[in-house]
Amino acid sequence: MNDKVDLVIFGGTGDLSTRKLLPALYQLHRHGLAERLQRIIATGRREMDSETFRNEAHANLQTFVPAKDWDTAVWEGYCQHLHYVRVDASDGGDYENLTQLLNADVAPIRLFYLATLPALYGTICSHLQQAGAVQEQSRVVLEKPLGHDLASCHEINLQVADVFGEEDTFRIDHYLGKETVQNVMAVRFGNPLLHPVWNNTFVDNVQITVAEEIGVEGRGDYYAKTGALRDMVQNHLLQVLSLVAMEPPTSLDPTDIRDEKVKVLRCLEPITADNAKERSVRGRYDAGAVRGEAVKGFLEEAEYKDADATETFVALKASINNWRWAGVPFYLRTGKRLSRRYSEIVIEFKKLSFSLFANDPNELTNKLVIRIQPEETISLHTLNKKPGLTRKLRLQPVELHLTEDPAQKGVSYDAYERLLLDAINGDQTLFMRRDEVETAWRWIDSIIAAWEEAGTPVKPYNSGTMGPGAATALVAVDGRSWYE
Ligand code: BG6
Repeated sequence: MNDKVDLVIFGGTGDLSTRKLLPALYQLHRHGLAERLQRIIATGRREMDSETFRNEAHANLQTFVPAKDWDTAVWEGYCQHLHYVRVDASDGGDYENLTQLLNADVAPIRLFYLATLPALYGTICSHLQQAGAVQEQSRVVLEKPLGHDLASCHEINLQVADVFGEEDTFRIDHYLGKETVQNVMAVRFGNPLLHPVWNNTFVDNVQITVAEEIGVEGRGDYYAKTGALRDMVQNHLLQVLSLVAMEPPTSLDPTDIRDEKVKVLRCLEPITADNAKERSVRGRYDAGAVRGEAVKGFLEEAEYKDADATETFVALKASINNWRWAGVPFYLRTGKRLSRRYSEIVIEFKKLSFSLFANDPNELTNKLVIRIQPEETISLHTLNKKPGLTRKLRLQPVELHLTEDPAQKGVSYDAYERLLLDAINGDQTLFMRRDEVETAWRWIDSIIAAWEEAGTPVKPYNSGTMGPGAATALVAVDGRSWYE
């Protein structure tokens, strides 16, 4: 149960490893949660020894670990576990060195973390196997994006499955590692008060927003080929949607939870060329200002081929065709260079059918607002009497805070800490199963095909706004508005 684990990171000197994985592993050490980790072996194409890698990691951690968490004694313990081996992932001959290092001090469990281009996943798995690096207890962690459509995702999954069983395959969606995303299940299934109203009799609409202030940063090449629909909706937004909409699982066992999530994805109504205009909006940021700073537009920043066909913003009206959700729109939106960074789920309950009060009926709704970031909070928006001597009884909104922001209590953590810990411990609950990822791609493919057929334009929006006006209209035609 507590067998030691060797963690091997492909892409060990890359961006993800530097910004997220090595800092998260440092934090696990700091919290005393990494005792099962025997070695962390980074691999990359550069020629360097482990000492040089440790020096580089030390310098990078100064940037990516908050100063308040830095502890030289923790670093000294942590760096003993760090190793580097030069491996060109596409060159089978290079894997010998890695196998030798692994065999020099065998840990019962091997965890291979693939943070490289997904096109290499199949090759890496087969080279690992040929070099004898895969032993009985070996797991693989796959970073997103898993392909760029259903066919390519299927192909990668098949190649990986040649070497690793599904129970040893951990597909990451880092949104599942976020505290409030996990809290969705706790709130839904832990509160008898909410359970009876979580359906189309009481819920009017659901909104999921993932808004970013940053642009495409140094990833324009990848992004120009990908766009917001594939980069964000296929994974993060659909994972959040499936947790909000799924039926209660029979237990908290990973299989039971993932069985329910995939059923939701299967019920998503395809978007077609006929309804693409009413159900989707694509946008691309132009120049503007974010937090008072002038920023360039996507096309000026990135001189990439076909970039003018890439969306950096998408808004969708999704329908889940099942007993619980028929008739309830799920509005999804995500974009870069928006006015502020926040991710949020809003469950808006239906209005009273008759109102006794002197308010505009639109003011009289209850909402459950689940803030994923930057704060991690959940609040229930209710109504009570506006105090005072006015003759007519008027209502005012009151927010009931159901959680305290863990950051305030000093118990906040990065999603990668949670996910690395779970992968080390072999818990698949917060990882995507093969059928989930493929079913999500099936729906995304329907949207891409609809856009192509309908010639859906990419509408410009100024950086520092909340996207193209058409996104407001998408919701307004239904007599609703985005909660902001
Ligand atoms: C990644 C996307 O998966 O998620 C990025 O590839 C995006 O484009 C990032 O910026 C957002 O993650 P977070 O945790 O900052 O909301």
